[in-house]
This record gives sequence, structure tokens and C-alpha cells, in this order.
Amino acid sequence: MFTLKVREVERHSKSLATIYFSKKLKAYPGQFVMVNVFGFEEIPLSLSSPNSVTVKAVGKTTEKLVNIQEGESLGIRGPFGNPFSPTSDSALIIAGGIGIAPLIFLHDFLVKCGADVRMIYGVRSRSDFIFPQRFLNCVFLTEDGSFGIKGKVTDAVKKENLNEFEKIYVCGPKAMMEWLIDYFERRGVIEKSEFSVERYMRCGIGVCGSCVTEKGLRACVEGPVFSGKELR
Ligand SMILES: Cc1cc2nc3c(=O)[nH]c(=O)nc-3n(C[C@H](O)[C@H](O)[C@H](O)COP(=O)(O)OP(=O)(O)OC[C@H]3O[C@@H](n4cnc5c(N)ncnc54)[C@H](O)[C@@H]3O)c2cc1C
Ligand code: FES
Repeated sequence: MFTLKVREVERHSKSLATIYFSKKLKAYPGQFVMVNVFGFEEIPLSLSSPNSVTVKAVGKTTEKLVNIQEGESLGIRGPFGNPFSPTSDSALIIAGGIGIAPLIFLHDFLVKCGADVRMIYGVRSRSDFIFPQRFLNCVFLTEDGSFGIKGKVTDAVKKENLNEFEKIYVCGPKAMMEWLIDYFERRGVIEKSEFSVERYMRCGIGVCGSCVTEKGLRACVEGPVFSGKELR
């Protein structure tokens, strides 16, 4: 473990923040770090850029992180895990809620690679969006209709011609990802899809077994990014 200082905190809402570290890590989109919030727990968080994590407060540790101050220190292990495989061709990125975190990093990486990136990004309500101005070719959805189209991510996916894309990347709530795996299978595009999945993690390095999936794969080593084919 090494220690990094918090350089800057960007608060998106009461429960959402992006925390920038004092140093860039050598990492690829889809990888995660184990973040030790001193006095609280060590938790897995996807990198939202080489020097940031984007966090939603759901419990004590994430709440502390969202309210952390510049100059405080965090213990870091990693980056760990299997990243997304990039493309310089056409890509569709599908994000639900805080699932946007690893996809921010992926979006910026693909744009730099010269890819043609389209996005579908859905949240509950307007204040849940993170960096919406950054995504130029994006369908925004809210469940309460407070911004963009009223509805769910899955409604927008049904309107896309999925054959147009070289790769499809997904991260979001479990129910959304399960629906998409089934839909991609029926549409014949499962082979080009990749999903970032969440499991309860302790060691982050493939030793403790707490993150093993139904198929016996360790989300911290073989994942957190899996191909749609592996997950179906
Ligand atoms: C690889 C990976 C990457 C992640 N990336 C992000 C990220 O970029 N941003 C972010 O905000 N969160 C991310 N998470 C989820 C984050 O780790 C949990 O929200 C966090 O551990 C909760 O800690 P807590 O002490 O605040 O809450 P706790 O009190 O531990 O839990 C609060 C609630 O969250 C649920 N929860 C806790 N851990 C997880 C988990 N691993 N998966 C699903 N539900 C969980 C609990 O069941 C409980 O209902 C990621 C998880 C994994 C495995
Ligand atoms: S977190 Fe320990 S094996 Fe994955």
C-alpha cells in the first residue's frame, strides 16, 4: 500500500463526488484501486481517470470519502483487475447511475484513440448526472423526466442499431446489465460487448475468494471487466 494526498474534490451533489489524487497512476480504463479510508474501511473503487475516483455515498466509508477534504491522505493498493479492451473504431457506451465511474475514464481514452463514441447515460434524477457536458454524442435519460428523455437506459438501447458499433461497453445496476446480456444475445451482438461487474471484494488480488462469480471467476483478477460471452 502507498499513500496519496487528495489534491482536489469536485462535488457533483450531496452524495456524489470525484476525488483527485496528487499523482497519476499507471492504469487502464476499467481497472480499480483498493482505497483505505483511514479510520474507516478499505473499499474497491474504479478509476474515473488515472488520478481520480468518482464515488457515491451508500455507507459510512463512501460517505466519508464524498466529504473528504483537500490535503487529507488515502491508502491505495493497485491498480488491479482486467481493463476494457479499447477500440479506435465505433463504440457504444451504456451507463446506469454510478456505473458511469469507470466509463468516464473509458470515454476519454477512446476519444483520444480517435474512436467514434456514442453514449447512453441514464440516472434517477437530474442531480445524479456526473460530467454530462463532457459527453458530446450522448442520449441522456432520467427516470423522473427532470432532464433529457424520461425513461430508462433500456428504452434508449432498443432504439439503437447495435450492428453499427464495433464494441459495446456497459456498467450499471445488476438488473440493467442482466437485461442487456439477454438483449444482446437475442440481437446477436453479445460477442462485442463488455461489462464491468461489482462483487464484494476484500483482498483485490485473487486470494480470499470473496468476489467469485457464479461461474467461478474472480471479479478482482479475471474481472471486473468481463466479455458478455463470459457472463451469459
Ligand atoms: C470493482 C469495483 C469497483 C467499484 N467502483 C465504484 C466506483 O467507482 N464508485 C462507487 O461509488 N462505488 C464503486 N464500487 C462500490 C463500492 O465499493 C461500495 O459502494 C463500497 O464498498 C461501500 O462501502 P461503504 O462502507 O460506504 O458501505 P457499506 O456500509 O459497506 O455498504 C452500503 C451498501 O452498499 C452495498 N455494497 C457494499 N459493497 C458493495 C459492492 N462491492 N458491490 C455492491 N454493493 C455493495 C452494501 O450491500 C450495502 O447495501 C465498486 C465496487 C467494486 C467491486
Ligand atoms: S477480492 Fe479476494 S479473491 Fe477477489
